[in-house]
Amino acid sequence: MRIIIDTDPGTDDAVAILIALAHFTDEEILGITTVAGNVGVKVGTTNALRILEQAGRNNIKVFEGESAPLKRELLTAEWVHGTDGLGGVPFPGPSKTEEDQDAVTFLKDAISNSEEKVTLCVLGPMTNIGKAISEMPEIVENIEQIVFMGGSATGGNTTPAAEFNILVDPDATHIVLQSGVKLVMMGLDVTHQAISTSNRIKNISDTNTKTSELLVGLMSRLANLEIVKKKFPDGTPVHDAFVTAYLVDSSLTKGNFVNVEVETSSDLTLGQTVVDVNEISGRDKNVYWMNEVDDDKLFSIITKSSSLLP
Ligand code: RIB
Ligand code: CA
Repeated sequence: MRIIIDTDPGTDDAVAILIALAHFTDEEILGITTVAGNVGVKVGTTNALRILEQAGRNNIKVFEGESAPLKRELLTAEWVHGTDGLGGVPFPGPSKTEEDQDAVTFLKDAISNSEEKVTLCVLGPMTNIGKAISEMPEIVENIEQIVFMGGSATGGNTTPAAEFNILVDPDATHIVLQSGVKLVMMGLDVTHQAISTSNRIKNISDTNTKTSELLVGLMSRLANLEIVKKKFPDGTPVHDAFVTAYLVDSSLTKGNFVNVEVETSSDLTLGQTVVDVNEISGRDKNVYWMNEVDDDKLFSIITKSSSLLP
């Protein structure tokens, strides 16, 4: 497998990246590209480097991406992830820097030149991906699939209609949805079904690695937010973990191949993913919309990852 992780780290992004580092080699992970979302892109880039430092995987390159959405003002979520983007969880400082090449150029080059089709793991707003496809449409021929955390058929988490990643850059999302690439959507429909309960946190903690302490810290940060506690009294969803865990074991989720479009102009429903669950629009089917998850499997993959990392 050849994968590129596009991310706005981000506490749950960090969990997703650690799952990938535990299960895929430096050769399989072509690079990590960062994008503005949860935090500004420079903070996100530093965090990607910190996560690699922690895992002892500094051979993997980080490429800094877009600092703002294609057309709109940037919306961030420091109130969720902290100003440092990792909830104050003590990841080490990086001992290397990001590459000089920007993320969009790297995406176009790496995808074009890969001898194997590339899987994109998209954990944040789709700005980098949308820009790369609009600048070089032919790269879609060498993309195996885009597995992304974003959207929802059943209401948003940032507005009543929109999930955060899609809301930040609905225009980039539209480009990706129209691209013809195989799309696997890990929306709130599945991510809200897998909660970091205390038993699951204990299983991770019992792996007794430094990574386990950091994973517990990341999920505790999310679980302790009042707004999360109100909706999820037993723990927190770990949204982005679905993307890389799915690459580890695609039986993690089940879903339907349906049409999904995104609202790019309405003030009321901007960023809403309109999921044609009942197949009544007659529009082309373009997305594997996941709606069932083996939640025990998600947390066993996180726990396994914790035991495999330093
Ligand atoms: O809505 C959840 C998504 O928004 C996750 O990717 C989280 O990291 C934030 O980017
Ligand atoms: Ca994210």
